Amino acid sequence: MIVLGIETSCDETSVAILKDDDIMVNLISSQLLHQEYGGVVPEFASREHMRLLPCLTQKALDQISISLNNIDAIAVTKGPGLMGALLVGLSFGKGLSYALNIPFLAVNHIEGHIMANFLSRDSGLNFPFLCLIVSGGHTQIVNVKDFGDYDILGRSVDDAAGEAFDKAARILNLGYPGGPAIDEFSKNGDPTFHYFPRAKVKRSRADFSFSGLKTSMLYLVKQKGQEWVQGNLPDLCASYQEAIVDMLRTNTFLMAKEKNISTLVIAGGVAANSRLRRVFSKEAKNLGIRIFFPSPEYCTDNAAMIARTGLEMIKHKISSSLNVSAVPNLPLN
Ligand code: KG4
Ligand code: ZN
Repeated sequence: MIVLGIETSCDETSVAILKDDDIMVNLISSQLLHQEYGGVVPEFASREHMRLLPCLTQKALDQISISLNNIDAIAVTKGPGLMGALLVGLSFGKGLSYALNIPFLAVNHIEGHIMANFLSRDSGLNFPFLCLIVSGGHTQIVNVKDFGDYDILGRSVDDAAGEAFDKAARILNLGYPGGPAIDEFSKNGDPTFHYFPRAKVKRSRADFSFSGLKTSMLYLVKQKGQEWVQGNLPDLCASYQEAIVDMLRTNTFLMAKEKNISTLVIAGGVAANSRLRRVFSKEAKNLGIRIFFPSPEYCTDNAAMIARTGLEMIKHKISSSLNVSAVPNLPLN
């Protein structure tokens, strides 16, 4: 089964082709034009997706020397994400599936991030597991019982972890997206340089709150001034990053112990963070928990994870609510 995956939920235009579990090609074009605005401009994102999507699709096909006629199904991100950006990918994918008379699968983006952990063939990962999802828009601890069977145990009550990285980077003039820059500066910094407060949410020990953290950074920068900030940038980044990783670690392992979990999976852009990977791996080892991360290139938005989820939907005979009647479903019985 050859599945074409399309991802356009935010500022990455991505096209991938999977043959069963093998990634034949995964192309990602990150829209750099947003950098000068310090964040994603939704209208520009949609326009860039429109410009890039047909070229990337052709490039992906050319790269593995196949034609559209070899594609068996099309999987496209249906959300969550920027509405205009999503519509570009969905319309393009639906148009293709209609013209080719092949199934169309509308994929949940967060589910895609979870499934990125299955992209490596020899990972040995199986359901069930506990999953920490840490992206630019979401922070959730999810009990993944099986494919499509999820219990959300905790979530951020305000900013997502990735947003906390991005907002601090903006305060520190490190550009967008901020996570990779803070990760990089932190490598030469002292995480104990400044103690940023670790917020606890009264309602639930599995919930997170990150908005106070960026406010704390804002006040510190205002109080100490830019010169001090520039002189202590690596230490400041390392201390801030440590607070985020510490909060994520505390709640996740608390839930892992409470639910007696033997397998932990990390998903989303922030899963690429080097400090998070080290801290989580160490703690999991101490507790005898198996831990999985996607390889760094598949942590952030990519179409391979969307195609992989589409493939799983087909295997599990799950058709999508966004299927249009004119597009035939797979023979599901
Ligand atoms: O999953 P993703 O690509 O997009 C969403 O679905 O939101 O996540 C993007 C987020 C951004 O906030 C970005 O700053 C963060 O992931 N990120 C990182 C790193 N790489 C990306 N955060 C911390 N360290 C990184 N190395
Ligand atoms: Zn994402």
